[in-house]
Amino acid sequence: FFKASVLSVVAFWGWLTWEVYKESNPGDQVPQSELKENGNRKKNIVILGSGWGAISFLSKLDTTQYNVTIVSPRNYFLFTPLLPSVPSGTIDVRSICDAVRTIARGTPGEVRYMEAEAIDIDPKARCIQLEHTSQRFSVGDAFINNHEPIRSTISYDYLVYSVGATVNTFGIPGIPENASYLKESNDATAIRQKLFNSIEAARLLPIESAERARLMNFVVCGGGPTGVELAAEVKDFIDQDLKKFIPDIEKELQVTLIEAMPNVLASFHPRLIKYTKNVFKEQGVHLRTNTMVTKVDDRNVYCSLKNADGSKDDVVIPYGTLVWAGGNAQRPITKLLASKILEQQTARRGLLVDDYLKLDGDDYIFALGDCTFTTNPPTAQVAYQEGHFLADYFNKLSKLDDYEFIQVKEPEKMEKYASKIERVKQGMLPFKYRHQGSLAYIGSDRAVADLSWGSWSTVALGGSLTFLFWRTAYVSMLLGMKNKILVVTDWVKVAMFGRDCSKES
Ligand code: FAD
Ligand code: NAI
Repeated sequence: FFKASVLSVVAFWGWLTWEVYKESNPGDQVPQSELKENGNRKKNIVILGSGWGAISFLSKLDTTQYNVTIVSPRNYFLFTPLLPSVPSGTIDVRSICDAVRTIARGTPGEVRYMEAEAIDIDPKARCIQLEHTSQRFSVGDAFINNHEPIRSTISYDYLVYSVGATVNTFGIPGIPENASYLKESNDATAIRQKLFNSIEAARLLPIESAERARLMNFVVCGGGPTGVELAAEVKDFIDQDLKKFIPDIEKELQVTLIEAMPNVLASFHPRLIKYTKNVFKEQGVHLRTNTMVTKVDDRNVYCSLKNADGSKDDVVIPYGTLVWAGGNAQRPITKLLASKILEQQTARRGLLVDDYLKLDGDDYIFALGDCTFTTNPPTAQVAYQEGHFLADYFNKLSKLDDYEFIQVKEPEKMEKYASKIERVKQGMLPFKYRHQGSLAYIGSDRAVADLSWGSWSTVALGGSLTFLFWRTAYVSMLLGMKNKILVVTDWVKVAMFGRDCSKES
């Protein structure tokens, strides 16, 4: 037993060292070129975005067969499932970011990266107008410049469009000016800073003052998984750490979750919805269901409460920190692109694609992830599977293109290659999403898991064991070894020392 244990430890550390070495010392890449080795022209693929869809596509694409350029204003991939853990300090924001250049350098063929935002696409000319604004994604005065944005144009043979979605405010007045979102890494750090500003400001005021009570209310609007996980993480922070350093804060600092529908986590199994409600009650998270936000100002959230008898009451909820988690809307660039293609005129909630993720009405644009409207939900799981599917499709497309090229060059081999072409075509099956279940953290070391095992069974799990499963699943989903190690280290640090209580994160 002793020998076996020693061997397993040595094997584990050997494997870990090798993985870390491989990741930090990428090998040589096949450089970009106009022609492939067989003389066929290498097609240009432009990938827009550096999120789940784009990075999943890139990680499986044979980049030696195409000239690939990835364009995104965000020069890193963000592991969104752990973003709700950032404002509370459970996870350091850098632990869930992975630089695009590192990912691009790890592929077999050279991949170029451009830090820019696509501001216009011309599907007929197959070119994209890009804009670089360093101001938009920077932090701190040192990076702010007042220069004109830098613009350039890039053309493509194929465009892989994966720009995700933005936050849906439903046009509710006051949200953009007063609420934070939870979509990007800087949103998470902004929420943390606002929370601390509110706490410290409140503590200058008399205990019984209404202003102090207002500042001490952390309000989340939207009871989807984003809102639930954020409310749960902040409540944990208060109950497990802040109360050790700020006396009686757990009695004062309230967490309120507002949801327009009768239930939170509407897409989960009813048993898990009930379980979440009970856990929130036990934890002291104020859940206000059937409460629709209609207006926001700099101090209050105005809502319409639907009573059991169908009547409605106006409710005003004061807040110190406000987060809006009301779901997804299309980005302006997606709406602009849709407006240029006849077949996309009915695409209100996202781009319309066929079973191969090709845009309806355009043969050279493929779209995936949250910017599309399909029967699948807008999740990382879907975007990830679509990315892998599309990469496989493009790998096959490159083979087809080469066979057709050889057929033209060497007509005597026509028949031999015709059968090869047929075989590749037969292997190009349409995309089929395989749902592996949904997980959500609900606080006090408990999670819910709505798992589908096979087409007939659904397993609804909740509790502390599910929490361990949740953590294991998320670590395994993290793309790089560096991020896996950093995330586990963050959890160990929190278990040993508690979460950090300084305002900076
Ligand atoms: P994103 O991952 O959003 O990537 C979009 C990319 O496009 C970004 O890099 C962006 O910078 C870039 N971009 C934007 N505009 C432009 C432009 N004009 N030009 C070029 N690039 C542009 N899903 C799950 O399945 N499980 C979870 O646990 C989960 N947790 C989540 C937690 C949070 C807090 C959030 C916000 C979402 C969560 N999701 C989860 C949903 C998941 O993150 C999304 O479904 C997924 O990110 C969609 O991938 P995407 O590639 O379409 O878009
Ligand atoms: P969502 O669309 O799932 O939920 C938004 C919620 O806001 C809804 O419940 C809606 O009823 C509510 N809402 C909208 N307008 C409102 C109003 N005026 N007043 C009060 N409530 C209002 O959005 P979310 O949570 O941001 O998730 C987006 C996508 O990302 C989803 O597909 C989700 O499944 C996925 N996601 C998955 C996670 C997980 O699996 N753990 C975590 C986070 C997101």
